[in-house]
Amino acid sequence: MTKLIGSKKIKTAVFISGTGSNLKNLIKFSKKRNSPISIDLIVSNSSKSKGLKYADQFKIKKKIFNFDHVTNTERKILIQLNKYEINFICLAGFMKILSKNFIKKFKGKIINIHPSLLPKYKGLNTHERAIKNKDKFAGCSVHYVTEKLDSGKIIMQKKIKIANKDNSYSLAKKVLKQEHKIYPASIIKILN
Ligand code: GRF
Repeated sequence: MTKLIGSKKIKTAVFISGTGSNLKNLIKFSKKRNSPISIDLIVSNSSKSKGLKYADQFKIKKKIFNFDHVTNTERKILIQLNKYEINFICLAGFMKILSKNFIKKFKGKIINIHPSLLPKYKGLNTHERAIKNKDKFAGCSVHYVTEKLDSGKIIMQKKIKIANKDNSYSLAKKVLKQEHKIYPASIIKILN
């Protein structure tokens, strides 16, 4: 992986679809001295993503693409990534699946946060499934993105206990808190 050279931060794009709490957290992290990344572009597949407000708040360029035609969309995204000299991508609640071709172009340079202890519960509704299965533990994972969904090498995980009274909402909240810790820590781990 590209390592931090001198004091130059690695230009990074964050891809989102929803609330953007991880995005906000990564933006705050990126402004710290020990952060190896700067966030230079926010990509969303929907103009309705609440997280887009952080682009305005922190004066970061944002681009919205509808994924009606994946190949065309990815071509357009690549043009923007080139334009802003992006060298690293963080997926943060991004709900679209990127193509094999796209991932190949950024091999080893795309990471994702997933709200489960991978390889358990790939895909959606992780908390519902953990509760339904009466699991004792839940957690989150940061991993490299490969063409196989939620299957790339794990960079960092955090395990938490599921309380008897937890439901999928309370669990999501607890896990999200941990996500905000391990996403920056993972970036430091692989880039510093
Ligand atoms: C997080 O739980 C993340 O792990 C998952 O989607 C959620 C996004 O939350 N992939 P937010 O938009 O960062 O608040």
